[in-house]
Amino acid sequence: MFEKLKENPHFKEAVEFLNQKNLYESSYLVGGSVRDILLERELKDIDFAIKGDTIELAREFARKVNGSFVLLDEVFFIGRIVKDYVTIDFAQLRGNSIEADLADRDFTINAMAVTLNLDTLIDPFNGKQDLKNRLIRMVKEENLKADPLRVLRAYRFHATLDFDIEENTREALKRNAHLMKVTARERVKDELWKILSVSESFKTVQLMIEDEIFKAIFKTRDFLEIKPDIETLKTAEEILMNSKKEVKNLSCFKFACLFDFHASELIKQIKPARKEQRFVEDLVEAGVRIRKIETLLDKVRFIREFESILYPALLYGMSKDPLKTSKRWFYDEIEEFYKKVYLKNKKKLPILKGEDIISLGFEPSRLVGEIVERIETLVLAGKISNKEQAIEEIKKRFILK
Ligand code: CTP
Repeated sequence: MFEKLKENPHFKEAVEFLNQKNLYESSYLVGGSVRDILLERELKDIDFAIKGDTIELAREFARKVNGSFVLLDEVFFIGRIVKDYVTIDFAQLRGNSIEADLADRDFTINAMAVTLNLDTLIDPFNGKQDLKNRLIRMVKEENLKADPLRVLRAYRFHATLDFDIEENTREALKRNAHLMKVTARERVKDELWKILSVSESFKTVQLMIEDEIFKAIFKTRDFLEIKPDIETLKTAEEILMNSKKEVKNLSCFKFACLFDFHASELIKQIKPARKEQRFVEDLVEAGVRIRKIETLLDKVRFIREFESILYPALLYGMSKDPLKTSKRWFYDEIEEFYKKVYLKNKKKLPILKGEDIISLGFEPSRLVGEIVERIETLVLAGKISNKEQAIEEIKKRFILK
């Protein structure tokens, strides 16, 4: 199973380096790497546990191979080397032996190590068996308490690996979830985003709702009962799976699906990037506005306002619609109109400027802006297409002084 790794140039380079440093015997391949190799998944990063000054070693190794060095974690002494998009982590062996190190890890599937000659698997908690049975099992409850984010990591692996959570572990997750309130918010967001990035995340989200995980993550006042809208999330994921289109900021989009009116408040609690906050707010707003579209001009105004997020806004509206996909025609029709009419008409703009309106006898004021906007809307709707028609429209609609 590990044979293939022998050919991996990054692994070879790292092992050679550790050998030169006389650390060959006391270093191991650990954690996610071992798990992913046993699962025959593509290896994303190579994790080593090393007995020594890992920060200094990582710096030296990065210099040697012309990679970049990142100080990943000062508390646990983890140095990261990035080279050719591959990341290699040098983590200091916790405790004084590999067994002690593994005993401190989160789940049995992540608590295995392999010697650098790749001959011996060290698997004190039967992680290999759990991998076979597709089970997420904690190493021990104490470890969840030591780092409560591990509660969320369990659901993350449930989503990304499509594994079940072993029963006792699930009970312990429920018992300890409340400890996450003090976990660094960025870490919580990272895990949540990983969960939501999975194409059928609703399955995991459903479980998280049952286990009251969202209540444990977010602080809410009494009046604010969080009721995640799993149906909307599920509908959005179904549509996305049958579509070739992609949504940028996918996790953020799903977050809005799930929390709707509460989304903008809740996302603030997990330190969003400014554009994430904005995106969620715009989507929720679009969700309200889209349902009020009745006339052609409403449609044009909606598109003008939400053009930069049009596809997610339509998908959001459709997923949230109580009639769900049975009202799909309504949203498809807006998209058709956008592509076939709106974009073509947009090329005609501007046909009239503020100064043209002033020269018709209007005082410079807010009204001028409003008239320009009205004309633009009519052009985009295909109602008028040149300056003469615009002037006629203005004369008809607005009384000149
Ligand atoms: N780990 C842990 N507790 C954490 C984070 C990490 O016990 N809160 C241990 C696990 O053994 C894990 C390893 O450190 O396998 C590496 O962690 P990380 O790189 O964050 O995650 P991976 O398990 O590698 O998963 P992925 O690479 O898919 O994110």
